[in-house]
Amino acid sequence: MPSEQDDLAKYKSEGDLNISPRRKEWAREYIDPETERWLDEDAKYFLHQSLSTPCLNVLSHCDGIYIEDLQGRRYMDFHGNNVHQVGFGNRRVIEAIKAQMDELPFCTRRYTNIPAIKLAKKLSDLAPGDLNRVLFAPGGTVAIGMALKLARAATGRFKTISMWDSFHGASLDAISIGGEAIFRSGMGPLLPGTEHVPPPDPVHCPWECGNECNLKCARYLEYVLEKEGDVGAVIAETVRSTPYIPPPEYWKTIRAACDRHGALLILDEVTTFLGRTGKMFACENYGIVPDMLVIGKGLGGGIFPLAAMIAREGLNVAPGRSLGHYTHEKNPVACAAGLATIECMQDEGLIENAKEIGGYALGRLRSMMDRHEIIGNVRGLGLIIGVEVVRNRETRERATDEAEQIMYSALAKGLSFKLSMGNILTLTPPLTITKAEMDKALDVLEACFEEVDVQRKRS
Ligand SMILES: Cc1ncc(COP(=O)(O)O)c(C=O)c1O
Repeated sequence: MPSEQDDLAKYKSEGDLNISPRRKEWAREYIDPETERWLDEDAKYFLHQSLSTPCLNVLSHCDGIYIEDLQGRRYMDFHGNNVHQVGFGNRRVIEAIKAQMDELPFCTRRYTNIPAIKLAKKLSDLAPGDLNRVLFAPGGTVAIGMALKLARAATGRFKTISMWDSFHGASLDAISIGGEAIFRSGMGPLLPGTEHVPPPDPVHCPWECGNECNLKCARYLEYVLEKEGDVGAVIAETVRSTPYIPPPEYWKTIRAACDRHGALLILDEVTTFLGRTGKMFACENYGIVPDMLVIGKGLGGGIFPLAAMIAREGLNVAPGRSLGHYTHEKNPVACAAGLATIECMQDEGLIENAKEIGGYALGRLRSMMDRHEIIGNVRGLGLIIGVEVVRNRETRERATDEAEQIMYSALAKGLSFKLSMGNILTLTPPLTITKAEMDKALDVLEACFEEVDVQRKRS
């Protein structure tokens, strides 16, 4: 008989579930009566949905790498929904927003404004190759939707290939190409023609490539392109937040396959854009240029919702169709926040910092593997890092309960992060993080691994 935990496991790919016994245990110990009252109010007035209600805690403040709860406890936020590249409450971004609010707080559709034009120019200057044409949107999900529509308009084909376990947003079109049961399951017919292939995950590879991707998954994608014959677009996260870090040749192989079969390549960099991987755009790590890039999250400086699609020059082919046309499409305040964010990244060398501190953290975490059997795999690129905890390094069985124990124990010690796939500690701190702050976080993690070791020895 599968246990309740096993039943829930398939729903854990996006994040840790908020209904586990460990969550209840943590809440009993750390949530005071006033916070509990607010959490009850939250549960009373919001529609309940997975991953949201019940909420973990009530926040009252955030700054830099920290979030603070109602009880005044501060946590290093190594999740931050990937919006906090320049740190929470970044002064430069706040000043830019305030100044813009005093001048032009909104831009009625059919008009344009200077911050929007400047940000579009900045992005087309920064983006690789001839990715020069920008459309803004109020969120990553709808920017993905615009990319799907443009691919149909440009190729005359509606089919797509995307990856299992991927996430591109929660709307019906985005979950059709997404690969997570918690969003797709029971939602009725999704978009037709949305084929899925396995992601580059060597640890759980269906071809058992053995901890190092041998590109069989990339070749299989070409096999599907050939069999289908009329795929309009391949759409995938350059680096999945889980993270899956594809090997150097992976995207070159897929780029070439798309070219051979007339499919566009759309890369979703909603979470990885803005230097997280040690490059402004994640695809720059792979030396390829997609046909479209979708970005978002931290683009609004961790304050404003803002996303964008950047397409190559030759895809400016649908002037007679509305691809987005969202109410906040050219919001001047959001765009002022975006400009200040990029300037801050560049002036303060945050991309270099991501590379340096990320490399340092990877080294320290890998050395922990010698001391803690529970760590099955450590991987990362810049400041997107995954620590996969397993019950057995040979079988790679996911240690989902132990992962939750580590997560809640770290939270009690002042470090917040989320789990992916049930057993991967997913670490994405702000790019402003210092080495001393990273050391503090890694000390917390090591203490949590030690607790698991002690328990395992006892049992
Ligand atoms: C890779 C990826 N694409 C798209 C989205 C959707 O972005 P949004 O939540 O801003 O609509 C997300 C959100 O987490 C994401 O992680």
